[in-house]
Amino acid sequence: RWPEYVQIKEVGPRDGLQNEKKRVLTKDKITWINKLSESGISEIEYSSFVHPKWVPQLSDAHEVGKSIKRHPHVRYSALVPNMKGLELALDAGIDGASVFMSASESHNKNNINKSIAETYPVLKEVIVEAKAAGKHVTAYVSTVFDCPFEGSISPDQVVAVCDRLLEFGADDISLGDTLGTAVPSQVEALLDEVLRRYPKDKIIMHYHDTRGMAIANIMTSLEYGVTRFDSSIGGLGGCPYAPGAAGNVATNDILYLLHGLGIKTGIDEKKVDEAALYIQKKLGKTLPSKSLAYASAQ
Ligand code: HMG
Ligand code: MG
Repeated sequence: RWPEYVQIKEVGPRDGLQNEKKRVLTKDKITWINKLSESGISEIEYSSFVHPKWVPQLSDAHEVGKSIKRHPHVRYSALVPNMKGLELALDAGIDGASVFMSASESHNKNNINKSIAETYPVLKEVIVEAKAAGKHVTAYVSTVFDCPFEGSISPDQVVAVCDRLLEFGADDISLGDTLGTAVPSQVEALLDEVLRRYPKDKIIMHYHDTRGMAIANIMTSLEYGVTRFDSSIGGLGGCPYAPGAAGNVATNDILYLLHGLGIKTGIDEKKVDEAALYIQKKLGKTLPSKSLAYASAQ
């Protein structure tokens, strides 16, 4: 019934931190990412090369990229919005570039200051150049279920964007429940459409957990045969341009679920808990993961 192996991408150092007001010291980010690299995880999104005024917490992306210890089994990727971001990211060192846009017009405008139509040529150039430089390219599509400004988004709107990004040469697509409001029936409606069109190994699900539905949505995705998920250590984070949205599903929680179902991930839960406790201490606040709370009370 379940896949034998599921691939997790750790997005805590990017998606997790980008919404944290308290600045984490660059040297502590580096220590933390190095700890994560030892957990058996196969991909870490280590930072974001966006405008530093928009996301000040990640304005040290270049230094982080230059200083982390590269583990041979980890793909180190970073978020890049445009060619300027790509140039900086290539100089800092990336194995993968993550481009991003939204399925909803108004979220796209709020997030990256462009209409959907204006975004396509920008991302096309980034994807083509990143591929020419030999990098893996993941394309995030945000607001695939609900938009904070427009409400419900249809699967047709989502696949229209996915079609273009794959046509430009993206290797895979990460579908974002940016607001963290979807319920499993919405996941079914989208995956019915998406998996009819694209091979399932090209699809990654990216759930935020605002309303506590992420684990239910992951179960539904697993039933559809999805084997790739993004998660954030401790459940850290949110999107600065989606008011009220909480962090991603916690890496600690998804690992507890997957391992409990007998699904392999190659990741050591204890090491993930240790890395979560490290960043929790640096931020001086309790992270939302229930698995982490339970494990650390033992
Ligand atoms: P813009 O102002 O439209 O950019 O911002 P521009 O091209 O007009 O340039 C304006 C100035 O910014 C210029 O400088 C550029 O050089 C500079 P000036 O000449 O005025 O001195 N600039 C840059 N500087 C550093 N790095 C860059 C860069 N690009 C331009 N890359 C831009 C457009 C996209 C840059 C801006 O809107 C931005 O940075 N947005 C960031 C939005 C963001 O980070 N959102 C959160 C991440 S997305 C997310 O969380 C969702 C996701 O998790 C999936 C999900 O959950 O759904 C991925
Ligand atoms: Mg996100």
